[in-house]
Amino acid sequence: MASSDVLFNNPFSIDDLLVFDQENLRSMLACSHSQISIQLLARGLHATSPALVQHIAASLSPEQQQQFQQELQYPLTGQETEQARKEILDRLFWELVYWKTPELYEELTEGERLHEGIFQSIQSDLAEKIVLDAGAGSGRASFECLRFGAARVYAVEPSPGLLHLLRKKVQTSDKDQRIQPLAGRFTRIPLPDQSVDTTISCSAFTALDDQGGEEGLAELRRVTKPDGKIIIIWPRTEDLDWFQAHDFHYVSMPIQGEMSVHFRSFECALHSARLFYGHNPAVMDYLQKVQKPEIPFSVIGMNPPRDYFWLAV
Ligand SMILES: C[S@@+](CC[C@H](N)C(=O)[O-])C[C@H]1O[C@@H](n2cnc3c(N)ncnc32)[C@H](O)[C@@H]1O
Repeated sequence: MASSDVLFNNPFSIDDLLVFDQENLRSMLACSHSQISIQLLARGLHATSPALVQHIAASLSPEQQQQFQQELQYPLTGQETEQARKEILDRLFWELVYWKTPELYEELTEGERLHEGIFQSIQSDLAEKIVLDAGAGSGRASFECLRFGAARVYAVEPSPGLLHLLRKKVQTSDKDQRIQPLAGRFTRIPLPDQSVDTTISCSAFTALDDQGGEEGLAELRRVTKPDGKIIIIWPRTEDLDWFQAHDFHYVSMPIQGEMSVHFRSFECALHSARLFYGHNPAVMDYLQKVQKPEIPFSVIGMNPPRDYFWLAV
């Protein structure tokens, strides 16, 4: 067994798949990068509750449903079922965090501070503007948009748990009423055509179909006014070519020294390291050595949140 398997502690169980709505399930299961085949799905759902089997089956096409029902009949050992469940839960780990334990995600983003220069550099696209924050999560970037003068921010997010956290945060301050949380996804933004000046998405929109892709970009263009901008903050490094091929311009902020994730406490850093970075033993080694609640992005093996792409619409 690899040392990363020993450390990584996926806290979810197969019944947690009940948390997803049909739209999210369809999108995740249809996307080739999730690599969840019908066979794997059926193996993982072997001997689970009829309610869960029905919930998952309802998100499949009639042909997939037929294959799924056939695969469910094959006898499996308990170990084979456990292995399939582990694969499914690891592949859906981040979606499960967003939907099932949004407060853990909130704890992580609190410490993952975005480079201040990003918002300074896009301030003219925010001040007095109507902004869409697509894939807003619990509002990390939405609140930054307000701080930099946005007149209104539509914060669109598919996870009900994160949306609930965002609504609670918005209700605590008069000023923050300028943020309007809305349920939606990249491919279904609940706003009229050409209704926002600037669309942003922070650590959310990617080239993958279930996280934006071609259809998502077309939808972001639809709601953005002509002469407006689409700004993708902290893109995935593997999408650089995709954004460039779609006429985006790249901006990266200079940094002095290292950027780090700053946790509330050392206990919180240990807990988050086990949960979010458990596949990388260097993170835990680092924490044990420094005994401080900060982890440099270079130790985590992630590009720091210092860059963005922008596109003139
Ligand atoms: C890494 S989090 C970033 C959240 C927030 N923008 C931030 O910076 O903290 C990714 C977010 O994208 C959302 N997301 C995933 N798939 C999505 C989709 N198809 N459409 C819109 N948002 C999506 C997730 O629910 C999650 O809130």
